[in-house]
Amino acid sequence: MSHERSVSAPEHELSPETVWHIQMPEIRFGLNATEELPVQIRDIGVEAGAHGLVVTDETLVDLGHADRVVSELTDAGFEADVYDESEREPSVSAIDDAVEFVRDQQGESGYDFYVGLGGGSCIDTAKATRVVVENGGSPLEYIAEPTGDGKPIEDAGPPLVLMPTTAGTGAEISPVAILSVEEKEIKEAISSNHVRADAAVLDPTFTTTLPPEMSAKTAMDALGHAIEGYTTHPFDSLLRASDPGSRPVYAGRTPLTEMFSEKAIDLLSNNVRQVVNNGDDLEARSKMLQGALFGAIAGLTAGATLCHAMAYPVGNRYHTYHGETIATLTPASTIDYNSASDPARFARVAELFGIDTTGLTDREAADALKAQYIQLQKDLNVLPSGLNELAGITEDDVDWLAEQTVETQARLLRCNPRPVTKEDVHEIFVDALYNWDPDEP
Ligand SMILES: [Fe+2]
Repeated sequence: MSHERSVSAPEHELSPETVWHIQMPEIRFGLNATEELPVQIRDIGVEAGAHGLVVTDETLVDLGHADRVVSELTDAGFEADVYDESEREPSVSAIDDAVEFVRDQQGESGYDFYVGLGGGSCIDTAKATRVVVENGGSPLEYIAEPTGDGKPIEDAGPPLVLMPTTAGTGAEISPVAILSVEEKEIKEAISSNHVRADAAVLDPTFTTTLPPEMSAKTAMDALGHAIEGYTTHPFDSLLRASDPGSRPVYAGRTPLTEMFSEKAIDLLSNNVRQVVNNGDDLEARSKMLQGALFGAIAGLTAGATLCHAMAYPVGNRYHTYHGETIATLTPASTIDYNSASDPARFARVAELFGIDTTGLTDREAADALKAQYIQLQKDLNVLPSGLNELAGITEDDVDWLAEQTVETQARLLRCNPRPVTKEDVHEIFVDALYNWDPDEP
């Protein structure tokens, strides 16, 4: 087996990696787990009477979810303020605004604890706000060079608990906060183990208010994490980091991440139709939230691959939702292109999708997986038929997208199990313009 440099460790020994390590927030999961938020907060060291901030957005305030969280906190003797100005796909300046709010309310040291409530955008706002209040300056200083200054984050700051209201991004366990850098029209991550929350409280009752379209889009993102994490390089095919402390954030798949991927693919692919058709089905909602969590434990530890790399330039230029972009790109990138790297592994994904692979070669099973994945998208009836329907993208736009993918997404492309050139990416984008004929009955 040949060994590659790992994705982000600065220095490597010339020997294969032999150790894997997983770092996770404390996790509390279940119907009405919100009632245990005060217990969770005390468990991570917050004292009685402490003053916290709930970072969320206006929709979640209107739905009453923010009130529910604040009541649990105040009934348990904490003080809680609400910041409801998180924006979709938060920009660097949106974080500056949130940091300013914190300093206006509480001075330089900020709040005693933070709660992020919402989808990936609210959660990333909470993560970025906490580390910037603690470490000073602006978020751009902590984004990697050349976009930012690449300043190391010295300290995580006060305790942070994240409460997702969608079953998708997995941001509640990940060590990154993704921000858009307006002047460069790109998205970049503040990436550090100090960005990761101390705890995540996952309550499926929050996800019942998610409309069918958002339920489908966020599910396809979660499924992307699970499949990409399952099909990235194994950890021991990478070179060992010289210093265990600098082992990269995306460190390849391990026996543990594979187990989580398998369960996530099963839960997500077999329950998504139900939550899109009947949003009140709490059992299905619960399985989807578990699937999204497991997909994140797998994919956001092992590494997302080509599909995520291609999705960022699309999202930056056309402001499409991340999950639907992932849905649109998955058949051509993750399945079609990458299955050549290890057809047997994709045949296993096909089985997890519920496909009867008896008598099929691995290659045929991978092809059946592609057909089934596209059928799933059609059945959901709220997802675009390809990049063209997604954002009016045509072959004329593909050159720019391919160039941006190769130039700005090296971090993710290194995780891809099959080497990829700009020409390959170009061809995959063309394939993804039409996954099916939108005029088909
Ligand atoms: Fe994602």
